[in-house]
Amino acid sequence: MCGIVGYIGENEAKDILLKGLEKLEYRGYDSAGIALSNEKGITVVKEKGRIADLRSAVTESLQGTTGIGHTRWATHGVPNKVNAHPHQSASGRFTLVHNGVIENYHLLQQAFLDNVSIISDTDTEVIAQLIEKFVLEGMTTEAAFSHTLSLLKGSYAIAMLDENDPDTIFVAKNKSPLLLGIGDKFHVVVSDTMAMRHVTDQFVEIYDKEIVLLSKDRMEIKSIDGMQIEREPFTATIDINDMEKGIYPHYMMKEMDEQASVIRKIIRMYENDQGKFTLPSAIRKALNEADRIYIIAAGTSYHAGLIGKQYFEKIAGIPVEVHISSEFGYNMPLLSEKPLFLFISQSGETADSRQVLVKVKDLGYPTISLTNVAGSTLAREAEHTLLLHAGPEIAVASTKAYTAQIAVLSIIAFVSADERGQSIDLNIKNELSVCANAIQTIMDAKEDIEQISRDFFESTRSAFFIGRNMDYYISMEGALKLKEISYIQAEGFAGGELKHGTIALIEEGIPVVALNTQKEISLNIRGNVKEVVARGANPCIVSMEGLEEAGDRFVFPRVHSLLTPLVAIVPLQLMSYYAALHRGCDVDKPRNLAKSVTVE
Ligand code: G6P
Repeated sequence: MCGIVGYIGENEAKDILLKGLEKLEYRGYDSAGIALSNEKGITVVKEKGRIADLRSAVTESLQGTTGIGHTRWATHGVPNKVNAHPHQSASGRFTLVHNGVIENYHLLQQAFLDNVSIISDTDTEVIAQLIEKFVLEGMTTEAAFSHTLSLLKGSYAIAMLDENDPDTIFVAKNKSPLLLGIGDKFHVVVSDTMAMRHVTDQFVEIYDKEIVLLSKDRMEIKSIDGMQIEREPFTATIDINDMEKGIYPHYMMKEMDEQASVIRKIIRMYENDQGKFTLPSAIRKALNEADRIYIIAAGTSYHAGLIGKQYFEKIAGIPVEVHISSEFGYNMPLLSEKPLFLFISQSGETADSRQVLVKVKDLGYPTISLTNVAGSTLAREAEHTLLLHAGPEIAVASTKAYTAQIAVLSIIAFVSADERGQSIDLNIKNELSVCANAIQTIMDAKEDIEQISRDFFESTRSAFFIGRNMDYYISMEGALKLKEISYIQAEGFAGGELKHGTIALIEEGIPVVALNTQKEISLNIRGNVKEVVARGANPCIVSMEGLEEAGDRFVFPRVHSLLTPLVAIVPLQLMSYYAALHRGCDVDKPRNLAKSVTVE
C-alpha cells in the first residue's frame, strides 16, 4: 500500500531507488515516481503504471546522489501522472513522498491554503503546500515540517527534499511503516528492509511521531518534543536470494512450490533439543491464563484464523472468537474476563489489524502477533511475537503464508493443550510431515490441475466453492484466491447454506467446487453437490483419499483430518493460478490489490 525509498550518499541514487521501488512494487503498482536532487535543483519524474514504465521514462541525464521514490496504491484521486508521487509545493522547493491517509486534509486546505492552487486530488500535496506556507511565514524547514506534522490527523510515512538544503532528507512516520538504513557514507529510508537489502543489512527503527534528519553521514532522530534519540541498528536477516523468482515464471508458483519445505522448516524451528514442540515460556503462560482467545486478522490471514479457532477449541479446549480486524476496532464485542489477543498477519503491517492492537494494548490486554516478517510493526508492537518462517512472500495472492499460518496455529494449539494438561491422541510432528509430503505430491500433479482449471474456469464469469466444517473455511480461501487473481466472481459457502438463498444463482454450467475431506460429513456434502447438479451446475469434487468416488475431479493423499486445510487448499491455489494465467491476468500483481495494506 504505497512504498517509499530514499537515498542520500556519494553514489548515483537513481538505480538504487529504482531497484528499491521494484522490490516494493508488491505494496502498490498503479503509478510511481522519483525525485533526484543535484546542484541544479530537484527533478521529478512520474509515470502512471508500473516501475518498468517509470524506468523507461527516466533518462540517462537524470542524476543526483540524493533522491526519494514512491510506488503508489491510490487512496485519494485516480491513478494518473498528476496524482503520482512525489508531490511538490507551489514553488517547487519542497518535494515529498507519502504513504498513509491524511483524514483532515480538506480541513487543513480550507484553513491554511485558501490562496494556493492545488493541482492533484491527493491528500499528500496538501502536506507539501503547508510546509512551504509555514516556511514563507518565517519558519525553518525543520520547524515547518514538524509543525505541519502536528496538524495532520491520520497516518503517514514521509520522506521530503528541500531544494535549499540538498544535504538532508526529512523523514517522519505515524502508523505507516518506515525504516532507516545505514551504509558506508550513505543512509537510506525505506518502507520495508527487503527493498534496500541490495545496499545494506543495517536498519534502524523509527517510532510514531518521531522526526529524522538524514544526511550522508548523520542520522538525527528526534522525539515529538525535540529530544535527540539514540537508537541501535538491527541486522536484517532476510536472504537476498529468497526475494528472487529464480527459475519460476511467477512468484506465486515459486511460493506454492515452497509450501512443503516451509512446513518442514516450521517443524524444525518450533521443536526443542528433545524434538518436542515448544513456545517461549511467556507465551505459554499467556495462553494458559487466557479464558478466551480473540483472533484478529484480515483477508487470507482471517481465513487461517478460522482454522486456528478449530485447533484451539478441538485440540486445547480454549474458546476462540475470530474477527475481521477492520470491523473489530470500531465494533468491539463484549470481552471475556481474561482475553488474549492473537494477531495473524503475513506482512505484520496491516493497518486494520494494527489499529486493534493499539486499542487493546491501551486496554491492558495481552497480545501475541503471528507474522512472517520479523521486525514488522505488529511483530514489534505486540507483547509477544511468533514467526511463520515462510520466507518472503511477494505474490499478492497469499499461498505459503496461509499454509504456514495454519501449521504454526496447529503447533500453538498443541503446545497449549500440553500446557493445560489436555491429553490428545495426535502425533502432530509426524502428521505435519505427512502433510508436507502430500503437498509435494499435489504440486507434482500440477499439469492435471491445469487441465481441471481449463475445464472449469476458462469461460465462466462466476464460480462457487462449497464445503462443510473445516472445508467451509477452505472454500472461503479457495474462492478468495480465484477472485483475487482471475477476477472470476467466486464465493465460498457452507455446503448446507447455499440452498437458503444463493442457490438461486446456480445456472447451467456454473462451476461448483466441492471440498470433501471430512469423513463424518462426506455424505452431506455429496448431498449438497446433488442439489446444485440438479440445477445445472458443473461440479468439481476435490476429495481426500479414502473418501473419493468415481467422477471426483481431484483426489489428494490422506492426511490427519484436523490438518486437511493445509493440503486441500493447494489444488485450489493451483486452479486459481492457471485460471489467471489462461485469462491473461497478471498473476503476481492483480488489479486494484496490494500485498501490504498499510492504510485503514
Ligand atoms: C491484503 C492482501 C491479502 C492479505 C491481506 C491481509 O489484502 O492482498 O493477500 O491476506 O492483505 O494481509 P496480512 O499481511 O495482514 O496477512
